[in-house]
Amino acid sequence: MNSINHNNHNNYNNYNSYNSAGGGKGRMIYLDNSATTYPKPQSVIRAISGAVVRYGANPGRGGFPMSIETGEAVYACRRDIAAMFGAPGPECVVFGANCTGALNLVMKGTLKPGDHVVVSDMEHNAVMRPLEALKERGVTYSVAEVVPEDNDATLDRFRKAITPKTKLLVCTQASNVFGIRAPVERLAALCHQYGAKICVDAAQSAGVVPINIGESGIDYLCCAGHKGLYGPMGIGILVLGDPGDKLATLVEGGTGTQSRSLMQPDDPPERYEAGTINVPGIIALRSGVNFVMNKGPENIYREELAMAAYLHRGLSKLPKVRLYTDEPRAPWYVPVVSFNVEGMKSEEAGEYLGRKNIAVRCGLHCAPCAHMKMGTEAGGTVRASVSVFTRRQELDALIRAVSGL
Ligand code: ALA
Repeated sequence: MNSINHNNHNNYNNYNSYNSAGGGKGRMIYLDNSATTYPKPQSVIRAISGAVVRYGANPGRGGFPMSIETGEAVYACRRDIAAMFGAPGPECVVFGANCTGALNLVMKGTLKPGDHVVVSDMEHNAVMRPLEALKERGVTYSVAEVVPEDNDATLDRFRKAITPKTKLLVCTQASNVFGIRAPVERLAALCHQYGAKICVDAAQSAGVVPINIGESGIDYLCCAGHKGLYGPMGIGILVLGDPGDKLATLVEGGTGTQSRSLMQPDDPPERYEAGTINVPGIIALRSGVNFVMNKGPENIYREELAMAAYLHRGLSKLPKVRLYTDEPRAPWYVPVVSFNVEGMKSEEAGEYLGRKNIAVRCGLHCAPCAHMKMGTEAGGTVRASVSVFTRRQELDALIRAVSGL
């Protein structure tokens, strides 16, 4: 197994050259990896530029070599992602623009008037806004509490929220604001007892936490390509637990298959991928996925958690800092730390850090429900999130900067 810091040096050369080209403010300390990971591995950068040259034809739309090779390269990415997540096959891997698109497809493609949904109390607006929109179509939902560090209690809350009309549980695997994990594997088993399905928002967990949908029975796994999978922005994934599960489509159009028919094809992935797909994004994503698999999500999880815990310990020594969770540790958290500084709005602290070229995200993080859960909806929090490229010196720099507030 490669060590976690393998190739760091090359990536940092790249990181620094981008920074000096960018703003002349000195080296950026990037701790906004929950929004999008930066820098990207060198292999990803090479893949995306190489894709435009080598795989420049439309996949599945031509019988000439470059179109065929492009189709094969896209298929290889589906195959690797299916293997990574234990999906039944490459056809279960559906590409779209982002994790939000995947979540919308699941909710709008499966729910009908009269259906009921259970969601956790940590969901992002990528879940809550489509659900609010679905209310207009007669879909209702209930919110169940995730009890930090107590999976039995969480299961109990969800069990009580399920009704005979519940068709779907939608649950983030980890809060994008507080890093709190939900026991999605146990929730999958629970909802199946009641004849419902589960859709897991893995925006913060894919690539960081090992996930196997075959073993856990997760029906729908929604992932961002540009976070823990180290791909570029603009590519998201829906992994189907069952290729025979037919969702209603949100977009219809050309797929390069069954062109004589005016009907959208039945089979995945084409059924859900009308129009030309993001080939450079997909090919770069494959490099990101391979980068993660070479390191091993278990190793990434362990080492990133150690970094987040280091940051948490450092911040906890500052008298004016308020932290909202216990020290991040397995299996209860992903490596995200949210905090506030006494007497300051989170945005003020963020602007101050921004002037020092320290990148964090403040405010509500598009997740007002998670903030309501933790009592931080008025002012939000400052969130610092690490990646495999984060170094302790960078965390020290953040701690030093916050100590000056
Ligand atoms: N959902 C992303 C975040 O947490 C963008 O910042």
